[in-house]
Amino acid sequence: MNLYEAMFVRKTVRKYKMDSIDQTVLEGIMNFANSLPPLYQEITVQYKLLKLDDMNHNFNGTFTVKAPYYLVITTEDTQGFLINAGFLMQQISLYLTAKGLGSCYLGMLKPKKDFPMEPGFKYVITLAFGEGEHDIYRTSEKYKRLPVEDIAVFKSEVKKNVKTMIQAGRIAPSSMNSQPWRFVVYDNRIHIFCKKNFFLNGVLNEMKLIDIGVCLGNLMVAAEELWIDIKVTHMDNISSIAFKKNDYILSLKMY
Ligand SMILES: Cc1cc2nc3c(=O)[nH]c(=O)nc-3n(C[C@H](O)[C@H](O)[C@H](O)COP(=O)(O)O)c2cc1C
Repeated sequence: MNLYEAMFVRKTVRKYKMDSIDQTVLEGIMNFANSLPPLYQEITVQYKLLKLDDMNHNFNGTFTVKAPYYLVITTEDTQGFLINAGFLMQQISLYLTAKGLGSCYLGMLKPKKDFPMEPGFKYVITLAFGEGEHDIYRTSEKYKRLPVEDIAVFKSEVKKNVKTMIQAGRIAPSSMNSQPWRFVVYDNRIHIFCKKNFFLNGVLNEMKLIDIGVCLGNLMVAAEELWIDIKVTHMDNISSIAFKKNDYILSLKMY
């Protein structure tokens, strides 16, 4: 199974066997994570692989999802770091699925003050993972996701591949399944927006940007499968328009 195929069968796994995973498999996961190109070249990230005991030691609160392993991403605190972290973690989540391992994003964890991090780095999100207690694959085609009509506007006739990309973005996981992404598609461009929600507090607003990154992770994996080259751009003429319901994030130009 490759990452693209994994996308269609992946689901959140919240119950794990506490068995250890083979060291070579763990090394494979870390090598994969460390070799992923970031969405924005200039952002450096650092991953930490922790066990449940380490998590209890380093994070506040109790863990609703008990897993044998947790992959924590910390990153330089620069423009776009939340989107970039989501983008990387989703590809890791798909890699885990492809290797037969379940995973679950944990968005609400807070590290303790003395959690060791590089200077200037910030904690973003954790992915719990391990062997699932039950089947880790989604067997039904029925995703609980909004229909394409609700999240995408096609401004011109587009090729089948572009529609496949939108499907890939549509089925991405998001915090509380909120699916904040919106797409405007015009020829070979996908403009990506994030739904505004005036009632969300700071943490949840941050989570929306991680969600957008997660969605971009799916879009990138789909592009690679379809042999589409992608250029990530920020179109000033779009970002300067004030939209009532959505914030403009970025555009993907496809070749
Ligand atoms: C950024 C992010 C944060 C999440 N945080 C949590 C969490 O704290 N606890 C949890 O049980 N699930 C969490 N999830 C999982 C979502 O609830 C789940 O992806 C969504 O309900 C869709 O279900 P699916 O992944 O099975 O398709 C999170 C997902 C994302 C992308």
